[in-house]
This record gives sequence, C-alpha cells and structure tokens, in this order.
Amino acid sequence: MAQKTILRALAGETLPTPPIWMMRQAGRYLPEYRATRAEAGDFLSLCYNPELAAEVTLQPIRRYGFDAAILFADILLLPQAMGADLWFVTGEGPRLSTITTADELAKLKPLEEIHETLNPVYETVKILSRELPDETTLIGFAGAPWTVATYMIAGRGTPDQGPAHALKAENRPVFEGIINQLTEGTILYLSKQIEAGAEVVKIFDSWAGSLEGDDFTEFSIKPMQRITAAIKEMHPGIPVIAFPRGAGTKYAGVHAATGADCVAVDDGVDAAWVAEHVQKDGCVQGNLKSSHMVTGGQALVDETRRICKALSGGPHIFNLGHGITPDADPENVQLMIDTVRGG
Ligand code: CP3
Repeated sequence: MAQKTILRALAGETLPTPPIWMMRQAGRYLPEYRATRAEAGDFLSLCYNPELAAEVTLQPIRRYGFDAAILFADILLLPQAMGADLWFVTGEGPRLSTITTADELAKLKPLEEIHETLNPVYETVKILSRELPDETTLIGFAGAPWTVATYMIAGRGTPDQGPAHALKAENRPVFEGIINQLTEGTILYLSKQIEAGAEVVKIFDSWAGSLEGDDFTEFSIKPMQRITAAIKEMHPGIPVIAFPRGAGTKYAGVHAATGADCVAVDDGVDAAWVAEHVQKDGCVQGNLKSSHMVTGGQALVDETRRICKALSGGPHIFNLGHGITPDADPENVQLMIDTVRGG
C-alpha cells in the first residue's frame, strides 16, 4: 500500500492535492459529538473513557474522510496527572488549582506516576490504531510547556497570560521549575502515546505569541526543541509538528530551531509569506481562518483555493489556523474539503 498522504507530506513530499484534517475536528459543531458527550456526562469523563473518546475521534473521519485523526483528549490532562486539580466550568472553560510557589511545585507527583492517570488516553490510542481506516494517520498531541504553564499558574485561561508573565518576572526559579517539569512530563506522555500507536505527534503552543524577544526562544522554542529531540531519539522516524501559535514573523526558522518536521501556522500570517519564509525549510500546516467554517460561501472557496495555490510549491497539510468553533456549520467543512480535493 502507498504510504499515507499525511506521512508523505511530513517526509517533505510535495503532493498534487494537500492532505487535510482540522484542529478540533471532533467537537461541539457536530451533533454526533454533542450526543456522545451527553452520554459521557461531562468533558473530562469523555476524555477518560477510551471507548467514547475513540468514538468521537472517529466521528469526523466517518463523516468527512479526513486524512488524519487527532486523538481526543486535552492539553490539561498532563497537569492533572502531575497532581493539579482540574475541572471544566460549562460555557467558561478550564479551572485548575494554581502552582506559583516552590512548595506547590515540590508537591507535584513524581513524573513516573503520571501514567496512572493517563492510561485511559493510551487505551484510546490503542483502540484508534485498530479501528482507523488504513489510509488515515493517527496524530497524538500535548500542549507545549509554556502554554500548559499559563493555565497551571493562573488556574484558568487568561486573555494575556498575565499571571505566568508575572511569575516569570518575580520568581524565575519556580517558573523555570514548572517549565522543566512539564517538558520532561511531556516527553514521557508523548512517548507512551507513540508506543500505543500514535504515528505523528503535535505540540500545541497556543500562547507562544505572547512571548517576546528572548522569552520566545527560551520558553517556546527551547522546550519544543528538547521534546522533539527526545522523541526522535526514543522513536526514530516519528514526525513532529510544532505549533507556536501567534509567532508572526518569528515562524521563519522554527523548523531549524525546534527540529520539527512540520510547522503549523495560524491565520495571522499570509500564505504567500509562509511559502517564502517557512515552507522553504519543510512541511507547513494551516492556515485558513476558522471563521470561514461559520460564514461559508464563495469567500470560503476563494480563500481555500488561494492558500492551496500559495503553498502548492512545497509540502503542505491543509488545516485551519486554529480550532473550529462550536457555531460552525458542518456543511461548510464539507465545502472546504471538496474545494481542497476538487480544486
Ligand atoms: O483537536 C482536536 O479535536 C483534539 C482534541 C483537543 C481538545 N483540546 C479537545 C477539547 C485538542 C488538541 C485540544 C487542545 C487544547 N486544549 C488547547 C490547545 C489548542 C487551542 O485550542 O489553542 C488548549 C489551550 C486547550 C485547553 C482547553 N480545553 C480550553 C481552553 C477549553 C475550553 C474552551 C472551549 O473551547 O470550550 C478546552 C475544552 C475542550 N478541549 C473542548 C474540546 C472538544 C470543548 C469541550 C466541550 O465539549 O465542552
């Protein structure tokens, strides 16, 4: 059988039609997701229920035939496994017990113990690697240390990551301790996902854009580089996708600086600029605005074609610039796929 299209693009091949998947493709815009989530009870119960988590991962594959499936889980399961309390407030988002002092950092569990909590996630991966169609690639993931740290330090999502920036300025040893613990924990977590059957791993640094100057290198790039190097040493041949969201012009050079096979770009950079400054170094993924999944129509078609054309000269995986939102229309997703595949 020919190698899967996503793996070919990640290996640097320029394909006539880019393979496609979508961030948050299993999510609230799909009625079948909402039904399974209701059956599970709440979001975390769904994440820790291997049968149901596998089911929601498969739903968008059945409906749309995406080229990749992304494991259904959340970036905040790792801090929970490390000992932070985690819960989700409906309509608002995640809440965690905060870690801002040396004492709280020292009370986190030894990293060998994270698998006790995370075993159901590895079980989900095993089910998926059995049940996915032969041509579909299974992507595992984790949050990048900086992004996960912003939630652990603030105890919730914040518009400007203020509490994490404050800790970085006021108590550097504790801040760096959190980043280091998360970096090592992420390596163990991703490694187990790969052993269970993940064929690619993606590192989500959703708040990389708020790191300026040297901080971007120190706390976004370097931890992603360390994770990528460790994964490649333990699991040669497993491709890594790095997603420093909001990096802007700093996307140039991210392949080399992190060692990642693919750099995912958000919608804040123009596809023609990406072709010239990022794709010259390897595979890129992105960058359609998620809002097109709400508004649809000719603008969706035109913008999808424009991105495909701009990135047609090198390896490209079509995706949105960020996750699809709950108010998206499932028919617009089909229109995007038909446009990518049909020209
Ligand atoms: O992409 C996928 O379909 C795979 C699963 C996945 C989820 N979250 C499921 C989810 C992935 C890869 C994530 C990553 C994630 N989680 C990130 C990084 C990417 C990004 O979006 O920036 C972040 C920052 C989180 C933390 C998180 N999880 C927040 C802030 C929220 C609440 C906001 C929201 O959209 O409701 C979540 C909840 C969450 N994670 C949902 C899903 C499908 C919605 C939960 C629900 O069903 O109510």
